[in-house]
Amino acid sequence: MVPPGESSKNGASFLRILEAMAEIPLTRTDMAAVLGGGVPGDMGGFAAATYMRGIPVVQIPTTLLAMVDSAIGGKTGIDLSAGKNLAGAFHEPVMVYTDTSLLRTLPEREFRSGMAEVVKYGLICGEPLFSMTEAFAEGGCGDFDALEKIIDICREAKLGIVEGDVTDKGKRQILNLGHTAGHAAEKASGYSLTHGEAVSMGLVWILTKAADAGLAPAELRDRTAKLLGKIGLPTDMPFAGAELFDIIKNDKKRKGNFIDLAVPEDLGKCTLKRVSMEELREMLG
Ligand code: GLY
Repeated sequence: MVPPGESSKNGASFLRILEAMAEIPLTRTDMAAVLGGGVPGDMGGFAAATYMRGIPVVQIPTTLLAMVDSAIGGKTGIDLSAGKNLAGAFHEPVMVYTDTSLLRTLPEREFRSGMAEVVKYGLICGEPLFSMTEAFAEGGCGDFDALEKIIDICREAKLGIVEGDVTDKGKRQILNLGHTAGHAAEKASGYSLTHGEAVSMGLVWILTKAADAGLAPAELRDRTAKLLGKIGLPTDMPFAGAELFDIIKNDKKRKGNFIDLAVPEDLGKCTLKRVSMEELREMLG
C-alpha cells in the first residue's frame, strides 16, 4: 500500500515495494498484481519490471484514468525531483483486468480527473466519442451504461495506437496531447493538482496555441473548454510561461534541443509537431 497521490511516486516508495516483494519472497515464476489508479499502476509496474530483472504483472485499475489510459500499454515509472516519470521502463502487463463497478465508489475529484483523459481520447478519435462524452457530461456524468461504452472506445483506441508503437517512438506520442504543459502544471502545483486537472489545463493550452497559430479552429478550443468545464475540470493555466518552461526543460519527451508536441488540428485529427526549445519558450509566453 502506498499513500494516494503523485507525491508518493518516488524512489523511496519504489524501493519499499521492491523490498516487500523480496520479503515475501516473490520468485521469477511468480506474478505481481497491481491494484489501484495511475500512481500505483506506474510504480508497481516499474517494480515488476525491475524486480529480478522483470517478472510478469497484471494491472487491475481502480480509477477511470487508469482504466482508459495508464494501465494499458506498459508505461511504468516513478518521478524524480526534476520531473514526472523520469525513471521507468516499458513493461507490458500480461493482463489488464477492468471492473467498471469500482468507479461507483471513486471519489468525485478522482472521477473528474479521469474524464480529462477521456476528453483527450475524444479529441484524438473524433466522433462519435466526443459527442458521446458531451452527452455524458450534459447528463451530469451519471449514466454508467454510457460510461461503459465510452471506456470501451477509449481502451480500444489506446490498444490500437500502442500496438503499432509500444516504445513511444512514433504515433504513440499523440497520446501526450495536453500533457507537456499539463505535466509542467502538475509539477508547478507541487502535485496539489491531480493529473487530470493539469491535463485539462494542458489540453486547453495547446488548443489555444494551435488556434492562435491558425493550425486548428478556435471553435474546437471553445467546444473542448466548454466540455471540460461542464465536467468540472479547470481550463485556465494559472502558471507563468517561464515557470512552465523551466519544468519542461527536463521533460522526458525532450530530444536534444527539440520537443515533439501533439497538436490537435481538428476533431479526430492530431499530429506531431517538432518545435525547438526556443520556439517552445516563445509559445509559453
Ligand atoms: N499515457 C500515454 C501513453 O501511454 O502513451
